[in-house]
Amino acid sequence: MARHLHDCVAPAKLNLFLHVTGRRADGYHLLQSVFQLIDLHDLLHFDLRDDGRIVRSTEIAGVPADSDLTVRAADLLKAAAAARGIAVPGASIAIDKRLPMGGGIGGGSSDAATALMALNHLWDTRLTRTELMQLGLRLGADVPFFLSGGNAFVEGIGELLTPIETPASWFVLVHPGVSVPTPAIFASPELTRNTKVVTMSDFSKRLPGFGRNDLQAVAARAYPPVADALAWLSDAGEARMTGSGACVFAALASETEADDVLRELPSRWQAWKTRTLDVHPMATLLQT
Ligand code: C5P
Repeated sequence: MARHLHDCVAPAKLNLFLHVTGRRADGYHLLQSVFQLIDLHDLLHFDLRDDGRIVRSTEIAGVPADSDLTVRAADLLKAAAAARGIAVPGASIAIDKRLPMGGGIGGGSSDAATALMALNHLWDTRLTRTELMQLGLRLGADVPFFLSGGNAFVEGIGELLTPIETPASWFVLVHPGVSVPTPAIFASPELTRNTKVVTMSDFSKRLPGFGRNDLQAVAARAYPPVADALAWLSDAGEARMTGSGACVFAALASETEADDVLRELPSRWQAWKTRTLDVHPMATLLQT
């Protein structure tokens, strides 16, 4: 058995559009969205431990280890293995956090998905992709997507996934320096919750650019830097927020155009050029 798995990639995502089509009795919202993997990522490192403990070996400001989604993912996988009579060794998890938190690009969810994939391999627990997705949904609505292996049309609260091909594109992604709490945006009385349901044929030839992000108006009103970043980026292309914010993005025709936009970036913001990924970099670890 291998003792470690280092340099595990946890890629970010963009929501090319995000429609809120209803609300369930439990308060969770019904969504329709296209989740697009991009080439920005956190890096995670896993080492087996003989003492059975699950330990995060990196400090992350504002995220205590026991609430870290990677540690909770490891705990869930360990319990699922125990229920099948498999005892697993422990693990040390180191996280090279590069993606902004509260940014709407799925960093925490992707870290959790990568932890499930890596530890399922390292511990030889042999859960299927579907089983990992069921565990992942307990950690967050976006986690199953990162276990699906590619880009997807996402419905339900995040658990109904249809794989799709999306056009290759360059984007500029701007982080306006605020962290947006997802529950507050979904809970807003001002949120539009009745967007008309669409079908794949409505949007498949019109990506990126189709539809809108229903969470954007609420987040931009509550967080003026989000509105500022949208206004600034609108000069470069159609600017849109991803997830519940705070990051905003615009599709550009080429890498050179993305570079041109980045050169003009106000110094108060952080920004990246990024391109679409077709396949999750860890997808080879998944059994079907
Ligand atoms: O599942 P996740 O941690 O991403 O969700 C954070 C919060 O966002 C939930 O507690 C819920 O308030 C809200 N949410 C929602 N509908 C979704 C996803 C999230 O209302 N489909």
